[in-house]
Amino acid sequence: MSSTPFHLAWFTPFKVPAWKMPWAGHEATEWLNGRYYLDMARALERAGFDYMMFEDSTLVSDTYGGTTENDLKHGLHAPKGDPVPLLPMLAMATEHMGFIATMSTSFYPPFILARTMATMDHLTMGRVGWNVVTSSEDLAAQNYGIDALPPHDERYDRADEFIDIVKGLWDSWEPDAVVADRATGRYVDHTKVHPLHHVGKFYKVRGPLNLPAGPQGHPVICQAGGSPRGREFASRHADTLLSSPKGIDGMKEYRDDVRARAAANGRNPDDIKVMYIVQPVIGETQAEAQELARRRNELTQDQTETILGIMSITTEVDFKQFDLDKPLPDDVTTNGHQSGLNAFKKRAAGKTVREAIMGQQTEAIQLVGTPASVADQMSEAIDAVGGDGFLIRGEPVRTHSRRYVDEIASGLAAELQRRGVVRREYPHKTFKENLKDF
Ligand SMILES: Cc1cc2nc3c(=O)[nH]c(=O)nc-3n(C[C@H](O)[C@H](O)[C@H](O)COP(=O)(O)O)c2cc1C
Repeated sequence: MSSTPFHLAWFTPFKVPAWKMPWAGHEATEWLNGRYYLDMARALERAGFDYMMFEDSTLVSDTYGGTTENDLKHGLHAPKGDPVPLLPMLAMATEHMGFIATMSTSFYPPFILARTMATMDHLTMGRVGWNVVTSSEDLAAQNYGIDALPPHDERYDRADEFIDIVKGLWDSWEPDAVVADRATGRYVDHTKVHPLHHVGKFYKVRGPLNLPAGPQGHPVICQAGGSPRGREFASRHADTLLSSPKGIDGMKEYRDDVRARAAANGRNPDDIKVMYIVQPVIGETQAEAQELARRRNELTQDQTETILGIMSITTEVDFKQFDLDKPLPDDVTTNGHQSGLNAFKKRAAGKTVREAIMGQQTEAIQLVGTPASVADQMSEAIDAVGGDGFLIRGEPVRTHSRRYVDEIASGLAAELQRRGVVRREYPHKTFKENLKDF
């Protein structure tokens, strides 16, 4: 039986790479010039990746222990660059791959977002996408004049209205509105540019957009909803989903669920590409890979502060208050990343907090081995689940590095390309067409 072809993508923040590791180069101080990500983009395009996705948040957090010390000491959520201006720069350095930036429906006005995305779609000739998030941190909200974010499900209600406006603005110019007719002296046919006159529950936007949509019309929509409300939102709007269900069964349940929801919403489920988070550990031999995995899983002080710091930031629960050698109290709740906290609570049942973070599996499946053996495992998983691909990420302390990118691009992905399960070519001009190719 031949294996199912699948997609590869890379998930990254625009922040300092693993600067304490021996192969950090000069990145500790130079990463904000974007050249690190430029090298990454070229390597990943050579390796047949469909896209790079940049996560984002806009806060300096003092949730952990009531001070910004941990966040800034480890560079967890800050310093962080805005991925939006980075995208056209990466597109100029590559020819085919797509680039996705995260922008929050809770903080952007829909008109600015629609305009920025349309402009970037033109600049990149159809190679950008938008990761739609509703954000989960009140500390970020307070940078935009909002004391506290609305409740979780209401954020998605707002996002539904927001995305309809954005799509309406992208559609406000008919495709042949720009006539550039020298004979009549008419540049735009005003009868083909239509105001939106949107008046909804949360927003009021007149329109039309002040430029036509780019080559993709609607740039690629990416989403990562994990909760039932989030999945419903994703199934209505997304072209690609980032997901972190656990194990083959969890992956299949998630994909089947969003595909069924998409069909119920009148969409073709094949138009949604579900990507599973993995962090493959690659060695020249199986033994070397296992030793690397053992070292990566060691819970150093840095690692502990990083994991607890990130948990604190995204859930807005101060994890410093808990005794690491006792179980997590039952009554911890969040208005932030619900599925993240719930997954942690499930994992932590019957364990101390330390044991729970030690066994923390952020990946869908754990992949450890040589390029060939990891390629086997990836194909087995995709064959069992039905599709669609993997979202690879380096973790902040050790593998957010050029070295790791090269292990994946030149080692693992090249092996997958030789087997014909990962693309060597991009047959179409735009990101969205290539993504939907299979
Ligand atoms: C791979 C991945 C990337 C994400 N990136 C971001 C991000 O950049 N910014 C953000 O605010 N939330 C991000 N999230 C959070 C999601 O948007 C979502 O809120 C989260 O998965 C919880 O799902 P829920 O909103 O349905 O509860 C990400 C989640 C995942 C799994």
